[in-house]
Amino acid sequence: MENLKAYVEQNSDRFLSELKEWLRIPSVSAKEAHKDDMYKAANWIVARLIADGADKAEVHKTEGHPVVYGEKIIDKKLPTVLVYGHYDVQPAEPLDLWTSPPFEPEIRNGKIYARGADDDKGQLYMHIKAFEYLTMTNQLPCNVKFMIEGEEEIGSPNLAKFCELNKELLACDVILVSDTSLLGPDVPSITTGLRGLAYLEVEVTGPNRDLHSGLYGGAIDNPINVLARMIASLIDENGRITVKGFYDDVQELSDVERQDMARAPFNLEKYMKELDIASVAGEKGYSVLERTGIRPCLDVNGIWGGYTDKGAKTVLPSKAYAKISMRLVPNQNSEKIAQLFKSHFEAIAPITVKVKVDALHGGEGYVSPVDTIEYMAASMAYEATYGQKPIPVRSGGSIPIISLFEKALGVKTILMGFGLESDAIHSPNENYPVSQFVKGVETIPYFYKYYCELKK
Ligand code: BES
Ligand code: MN
Ligand code: MN
Repeated sequence: MENLKAYVEQNSDRFLSELKEWLRIPSVSAKEAHKDDMYKAANWIVARLIADGADKAEVHKTEGHPVVYGEKIIDKKLPTVLVYGHYDVQPAEPLDLWTSPPFEPEIRNGKIYARGADDDKGQLYMHIKAFEYLTMTNQLPCNVKFMIEGEEEIGSPNLAKFCELNKELLACDVILVSDTSLLGPDVPSITTGLRGLAYLEVEVTGPNRDLHSGLYGGAIDNPINVLARMIASLIDENGRITVKGFYDDVQELSDVERQDMARAPFNLEKYMKELDIASVAGEKGYSVLERTGIRPCLDVNGIWGGYTDKGAKTVLPSKAYAKISMRLVPNQNSEKIAQLFKSHFEAIAPITVKVKVDALHGGEGYVSPVDTIEYMAASMAYEATYGQKPIPVRSGGSIPIISLFEKALGVKTILMGFGLESDAIHSPNENYPVSQFVKGVETIPYFYKYYCELKK
């Protein structure tokens, strides 16, 4: 690629100050209060797409937050790459744990600190700048479309419909996404699997009002105690989920596939040290990478009820709540699992309480084949900038819309992420190393080049 390194070097300061401008818009999809910010963030990226060479870029209203669509069509006979990403971010709380405010991006020790710095504004912006380079230097080898949504972090509730309604607009040969991570800064990898997700909220009701914990305590089943017992029973001593039928559709990997997976570098000591834990845990008989990559799991994401403010209040609460997620593997169906969970949870509730179970959102897992042109192109692209072949890895995270793309548009996705585990996505002090951003902008153009060459 002509002058790629020089172009990026000469312009990287500008790239970063543009990105910082975008990061200042608090586009938190989960919060009603940020409704206008969603439009601001969408309009901001539309203006960038136009400035960087798109023929067309527009904001599409949906029933929720808007979708941005942009394109540059150079020749209908050439292949079309559709870049997908999301401009929405997770809530920034707890705010007091941030060193610098989440929506006042700051570069410290070579990293950009801000909510969305990696997930996904920073990673998506690499694509916008790679596109800028390709158009400004007249090297774009094919058509490009961009679909940038504002509801990924809340389960993309309106994107399926948007895809259905806009099949022609979105028609493409491959979908390219940077919203995953690498094994390490010097260990290139391609994400070949994502887990599915079923996310539910449960409510346990005991007595019809809060009670004095002295006058009633000992005679009334406390809903928080009950909820804690019920949750504890959901995973057995072997780390297996006890929900009836939960594992029915789980695909077991062959020994060869598991041996292949075990080749990915993984340092257990370092992993534990970084998290300050004395041991890992999980399903018996599986390694850490298998537990997150090819096995399902169940986690409480939040639990509340009773008195949680400062000081002590003696109360036996009427209600207890929890948010529970299950990460699923390909072939498990999120709706079926949510239903199984609901039936199980209702069945194990003691008669002293009433329970309510609501599914919040869900989506299916994804596996990407490694013997396709697009995988090869991505592999060659990483090799061009890292000097070594990337390792295929199954990630534990979810991007539910990816399996939907396959269903709705019939197109496979290639997950070319540049994030690092240390980027603290969804956490306080989310960050993205400038070096990762730069490497991404330098690698992406090679994907276009090799993909178009291999497609011929
Ligand atoms: N970008 C992440 C998913 C991810 C991160 C996959 C790193 C692999 C490696 C995405 O934005 C995300 O957070 N997804 C949610 C899905 C959800 C809210 C429906 C997740 O995994 O919790
Ligand atoms: Mn993301
Ligand atoms: Mn995310």
